[in-house]
Amino acid sequence: MKKIQLSTSITVFETVDELPKDVQVLMNEAVKIRKTAYAPYSQFHVGTAFLLENGETVTGNNQENAAYPSGMCAERVAVWKASSEFPNVKILKIAITATSQKNPVTEPVAPCGACRQTLSEYEIKQESNIEIYFMGESGKIIKTNSLHDLLPLAFDKSFL
Ligand code: THU
Repeated sequence: MKKIQLSTSITVFETVDELPKDVQVLMNEAVKIRKTAYAPYSQFHVGTAFLLENGETVTGNNQENAAYPSGMCAERVAVWKASSEFPNVKILKIAITATSQKNPVTEPVAPCGACRQTLSEYEIKQESNIEIYFMGESGKIIKTNSLHDLLPLAFDKSFL
């Protein structure tokens, strides 16, 4: 038997102003699209903006449903939009933000497990890393360099 330590590295920015300029723009797009999320049940509004290699920005927000599991997270709305509109264009960077009408969201909101798995598929497909920047409603931002950092030991096509 042996024990293996897995480690993850993150970068923490104190405010949007500390981010690289292109990511500031991306995060502002995510904040904008957050406002039109359809989230009448959770009142938790998530917005995301993807920067693609061709310079396009693709945005998305969460879409809920009275039959709860039929709703969808912002990240998957956006990644499927990106992959259907620009099928072979690499995703370089993703900005994510969330706010709630019930409580202040003061800590960075990381993508859920299902979104990590979905995004991981596209990172593997494009054979290059996707930087992810996530924030609450404002303030601190966490950056990860790759889906690997958010989803170690991922399930992928090599198992099939
Ligand atoms: N949500 C997202 O859009 N992204 C995540 O990564 C976590 C959760 C949405 C789904 C649901 O509409 C609401 O937030 C509450 O879970």
